Amino acid sequence: MLLKDKVAIITGGASGMGLATAELFAKEGAKVVIADLNLAGANDVAETIKSAGGIATAVEVNVSLQTDIDQLFKTTLATFKRVDILINNAGIMDDMAGIANISDKIWRRVFAVNVDSVMMASRVAMQSFLPQKNGVIVNIASVGGLRGGAAGAAYTAAKHAVIGLTKNTAYMYAPSGIRCNAIAPGGIATNISKSMSSVDQDGLMRTQEGSNIMPTPGQPHDIAQAALYLSSTQSKYVNGITLTVDGGWSTY
Ligand SMILES: NC(=O)c1ccc[n+]([C@@H]2O[C@H](COP(=O)([O-])OP(=O)(O)OC[C@H]3O[C@@H](n4cnc5c(N)ncnc54)[C@H](O)[C@@H]3O)[C@@H](O)[C@H]2O)c1
Repeated sequence: MLLKDKVAIITGGASGMGLATAELFAKEGAKVVIADLNLAGANDVAETIKSAGGIATAVEVNVSLQTDIDQLFKTTLATFKRVDILINNAGIMDDMAGIANISDKIWRRVFAVNVDSVMMASRVAMQSFLPQKNGVIVNIASVGGLRGGAAGAAYTAAKHAVIGLTKNTAYMYAPSGIRCNAIAPGGIATNISKSMSSVDQDGLMRTQEGSNIMPTPGQPHDIAQAALYLSSTQSKYVNGITLTVDGGWSTY
């Protein structure tokens, strides 16, 4: 077991790659905290893990609110006494709009959920990681954080920010025994399109030129395996990287 007795918080753990990561981490011996806006979904995942003999709990969290994040860590420490791994996975799509058509509302919402959350949760995690001189953060970015044409302007800028935050955190805290890496998934079969309340047709047409050359979509499990590698001691000398998991899509 690669994560025996480790305590892992997984945001957005009720669906998609967060769900797959929660189940895989529990199989690998971790005590898993499934943190999601969707409490019913998070509870279902926790129950499935427990009925398979694993250890899990569900917490209702809006990752864009500092108060909710503070409560998430309080609950985790009260339940499992420590925290070792933070997977900043919760995220939403934008509407594919380029800068000419961007709405303030979507820009702010995408940054709140996809970027502010990573900063706030990582900041609170440091309160545990620094004194214990150990801890791992894995940020779920996107190929949209490495390229210009995979999504709209808000999502692209937000995921670039996540990758920048990953590198800075890795650099700043390497001497303290803390690692921080990112994963850049390509197109993965999840429920994320449900987070799009509207679609900008011009932006969609431009992004589709790139998505048309994507190989078969990946599965949530493909990302969970990458998260397991980056969270375990198998990657103990890996710090500050962005691991692209996209079936080769972005090599074009
Ligand atoms: N699916 C893809 O193709 C793809 C590609 C690249 C990156 N990503 C990234 O992967 C991550 C996971 O997405 P997914 O594809 O598994 O999507 P998903 O929609 O299946 O799962 C996302 C989960 O996050 C939760 N969530 C959303 N907003 C939240 C909030 N404010 N607070 C707490 N929880 C919240 C949702 O309830 C859901 O359970 C996201 O960061 C996303 O940007 C996805």
